[in-house]
Amino acid sequence: MFDAKKIRKDFPALQKKVHGKPLAFLDSAASSQRPTQVLDAMRAYFEEYNANVHRGIYEYSEMATQKYEGARRKIAKFINSPSEKEIIFTKNCTEAINLVSNSWGRSNIHKGDTILLSQMEHHSNLVPWQMLAKEKSARLEFIPLGDDFKLDLHEYEKLLHRHSPKIVSFTGVSNVLGTITPAKQIVKMAHDSGAVAMVDGAQSVPHLPTDVQQLGADFLAFSGHKMLGPTGIGVLHGKAEILNSMPPFLGGGDMIKNVEFREATYADIPYKFEAGTPPIAEVIGLGAAVDYLHKLGMQHVREHEKKLVRYALEKFDGLSGITLYGTRDLSSRGGVFSFNLKGIHPHDLASILDQEGVAIRAGHLCAQPLVQKLGAVATARASFYVYTLEEEIDQLALGFQKAQKAFGV
Ligand SMILES: Cc1ncc(COP(=O)(O)O)c(C=O)c1O
Repeated sequence: MFDAKKIRKDFPALQKKVHGKPLAFLDSAASSQRPTQVLDAMRAYFEEYNANVHRGIYEYSEMATQKYEGARRKIAKFINSPSEKEIIFTKNCTEAINLVSNSWGRSNIHKGDTILLSQMEHHSNLVPWQMLAKEKSARLEFIPLGDDFKLDLHEYEKLLHRHSPKIVSFTGVSNVLGTITPAKQIVKMAHDSGAVAMVDGAQSVPHLPTDVQQLGADFLAFSGHKMLGPTGIGVLHGKAEILNSMPPFLGGGDMIKNVEFREATYADIPYKFEAGTPPIAEVIGLGAAVDYLHKLGMQHVREHEKKLVRYALEKFDGLSGITLYGTRDLSSRGGVFSFNLKGIHPHDLASILDQEGVAIRAGHLCAQPLVQKLGAVATARASFYVYTLEEEIDQLALGFQKAQKAFGV
């Protein structure tokens, strides 16, 4: 039985009060909280076997290496990667995307080529491609967003035919709308037209069961801190064949086979893409987070969030002055709610809610073009996770009423 109340007990930061009120933490899409199990695993590394990995021939270093590589295997299993060699550790999802745009992109994108993204992208899956397109005089095209807050696949098909893009890179779940994209279908269509496919999994891997073999994408990027793990650790999954064909992203220690004064040969994957001392404690922490999520069962996580989405939709429907962005189709919607309250700027709303112990996000949500397309300058956003309770959504709705009263709207 999935019991969010019981789960919450594992999260020390959720036990605190904020401004004397119980904390309703509704900003997990920005960064989740971490359970004791993750904190303990990281602490154990520092206290019990602190050493660098892949180097020392002594007990601590061997233990650290074992735990570090053990975490890689756990993460590979979590997303059903055929090999842990396909798991590359980065600083975050953003760096994983930049790895692809710099390494694969600079060798494969040439003048006049098309890079196809969607109108729903986080800046992380937009700006790196803008930089590459500028450098290479390549073209950027976008799968449009339909009126139903989903990607328009008919237009996508047309764009594939018209531009024969070299790569299609898109989000698995929108961080603004909560829309779950039909990633497998988008990947297949990209492949059928001869393009490489990349999924930004920052908002999908933490919330949905992920099977990279079923998904079929060449690349999948995600961040540890949005899935109960620490900050400072991200993952790029790439198919071995394509990773083997790519040049390194960063150079330095650990990523080499042999170095001479004027030349070097590079290590095999994944190490070719992991220059320098890696984030050891963070990798171990992410391994513990993956253990935790695996124990809960990702299908159960999804079901829990679906229930919360249904509850929130019903709750918000009864409120006046609210504009909700996103589909009502529960099968295509994750636990992310962007909205505006008439007459109240989202920043003001977030400040008032903070006084009520409710933490939400407000602004352009690192997706400025999408928020503008919605006809807004900024929005407020509430997002849910494994520890979110219906009571917190009630607390949010009460906060709305307080804000409306304060603003006389
Ligand atoms: C859809 C999406 N992609 C990418 C990112 C970037 O993640 P990070 O800042 O951890 O690199 C985010 C973070 O909010 C996101 O929501």
